Amino acid sequence: MKLYIDSADLSHIEALMKSGVFHGVTTNPLILKAGGIRLAELADFADRVFSLGAREILFQRWGGDETEYYWNGLGLADMSSQVVVKLPATREGLAAAARLSGEGIRTCVTAVYSPYQALLAAAAFAAFAAPYLGRMNDAGRDGHAMIAQMAEALRHTESATEILAASVRSPEDIARLARQGVSHITLSPAVADMLFKESLTLEAAGAFDEAAQELSG
Ligand code: E4P
Repeated sequence: MKLYIDSADLSHIEALMKSGVFHGVTTNPLILKAGGIRLAELADFADRVFSLGAREILFQRWGGDETEYYWNGLGLADMSSQVVVKLPATREGLAAAARLSGEGIRTCVTAVYSPYQALLAAAAFAAFAAPYLGRMNDAGRDGHAMIAQMAEALRHTESATEILAASVRSPEDIARLARQGVSHITLSPAVADMLFKESLTLEAAGAFDEAAQELSG
């Protein structure tokens, strides 16, 4: 299982990376904007995130057409071999993903809402296809059923593309996604914090601490 933090807020990233259970960080332009990270600051931001222990960071390309996506994607990948270039599952995004993947750059096709789009990501040799679980449910679709179909389609076609589930709204979604064969999941800091708030665990840990104090007293 590889978990990612879906944020560009360095204080959240630092606190969560300390937990030792996160593999990397995912971003998109909206997340960078919320974190106050400008494009000119991306390399510094990446260095800081790697210094906090992240082993992978996903940056989304920007631009208007396939060529612009491609060149911006190349620029992002140049920062580090640990950078994965995200592109939307549009005609232009897929074309750029195929071109970048063909040059050995790891890509993630994002904003995936249907099983056929996960297969398009695989056809473009993307490392990841990123479906938005919560947003599918918001739109009246059955997000878990959709993602299960995506995982099955990728498995049946022996694709190397992995699902990286995004827009996950609760810790319970993680185990459900894992049962569907999803082993890469990105979480907002709010959902990530919930992972450490199981009341029975906190109660048991508190009781252990009390007993340990008595033992040393
Ligand atoms: C992915 O790139 C998005 O940041 C994220 O998954 C959106 O999550 P939300 O739909 O819960 O805002």
